[in-house]
Amino acid sequence: MRVTMIGAGYVGLVSAACFADFGHEVSCIDKDAHRVAALNRSEVPIFEPGLSELVENNVRQGRLEFAVEATGIDRTDTVFIAVGTPSRRGDGYADLSFVYQAVREIAPLLAPGTVVVTKSTVPVGTGDEIERILREKRPGVDLQTVSNPEFLREGAAIQDFKHPDRIVVGTDDARARAVLAEIYRPLYLNAAPIMYVSRRTAELIKYASNAFLATKITFINEIADLCELVGADVQDIALGMGLDNRIGGKFLHAGPGFGGSCFPKDMAALIKTAHDHGTQLRVVETVAAVNEQRKRAMARKVAAALGGSVRGKIIAVLGLTFKPNTDDTRDSPAFPLIMALQDLGAAVRSYDPAGMEQAKPALPSVTYCTSSYAAAEGADAVVIVTEWEQFRALDFDRLRSVMAQPVIVDLRNVYRPDEMLRANFRYVSVGRA
Ligand code: UDX
Repeated sequence: MRVTMIGAGYVGLVSAACFADFGHEVSCIDKDAHRVAALNRSEVPIFEPGLSELVENNVRQGRLEFAVEATGIDRTDTVFIAVGTPSRRGDGYADLSFVYQAVREIAPLLAPGTVVVTKSTVPVGTGDEIERILREKRPGVDLQTVSNPEFLREGAAIQDFKHPDRIVVGTDDARARAVLAEIYRPLYLNAAPIMYVSRRTAELIKYASNAFLATKITFINEIADLCELVGADVQDIALGMGLDNRIGGKFLHAGPGFGGSCFPKDMAALIKTAHDHGTQLRVVETVAAVNEQRKRAMARKVAAALGGSVRGKIIAVLGLTFKPNTDDTRDSPAFPLIMALQDLGAAVRSYDPAGMEQAKPALPSVTYCTSSYAAAEGADAVVIVTEWEQFRALDFDRLRSVMAQPVIVDLRNVYRPDEMLRANFRYVSVGRA
């Protein structure tokens, strides 16, 4: 099949490379000429394990190309739209201007029968508007509009693309369904479930899934707070709950609050959609509010570990990205935590394997270091915010020898309280005695 991907951002690039790897002929279009030139040299501008190799192989084998202009789009079977839908400044609505602009630009070029697919996360009803634009620009021409949301986790995106829990295809048109089935055929031969639903249903499945996962995290975070007050262990509780098949064990890891480019923005957009339709998603609203407060509240936990105050203290923050194996710091819990620590009078040093450059503009008064041990120099406490692999096996003797006092606040529960006791650290974690 011939596939055109509009947008060489995170979702577009991963999807384009994976489709090419399935054997399709993929052309990926992006307005950023520097990015396109770099990608044609197989230089991948984002941090995603395995992506560089995948792009390089498929470019070399001639199945994947990058371009600024959508030449050849008149011969394509499908156009996937994978441009950004950021939160609109100030009001939380998803900004759909890039989506609609892309549709307006491609509409005059498409051959009859082309299937236009939204991969970008778009509010329910966006497909209807895309269809309207296509009809207006190409009256009487058969162009189908389908919703096919992505469920890719950063850091595991290729695995998620190639081994999905499900593929959701939103359209009532039989031919469009057949085209999408053909594109995903390598996956459903591997028994990946493909479900056909209406377009609006597909759009909402994406938001409902993200909101539910965020709810699970926030639920266990609040249980963790209660555990600390009553002397229970949140990890055993998550295990005990998760063994119930109706609940499932995933996304029950207590921590400093969820972040990233999707959950916070998608929840804000979902809440707005509900308001626009005269209803309220009260659970989702509460989850968003509780999570927002939690990130900053983690600074009080650090203060408590140091006897009540961080004024004049040096705090080493390990981890700036919202999760490991990415360089993405968007909505990372580390940012509000660091700002709160600074507001409370602490000096902050930090190390992150991939996110320091992105953090610098927003957090200019942090001292950025070259390793965990360099960050810990003279520190009154080390705070683990992101569970990078290299923070899971710290050399405790070395750490203690450079710190002003041996205190670790582990916001991801990567260590066990008994081993930290043996290592002579004052150790505070999340939801554990
Ligand atoms: C998410 C969804 O998982 C993906 O399906 C969607 O398409 C995009 O958004 P991503 O943002 O990459 O993916 O990260 P994810 O692994 O889901 O983690 C999101 C946040 O939740 C991170 O800050 C993570 O640390 C936090 N989290 C996750 C927890 O605090 N506890 C958990 O148990 C799981």
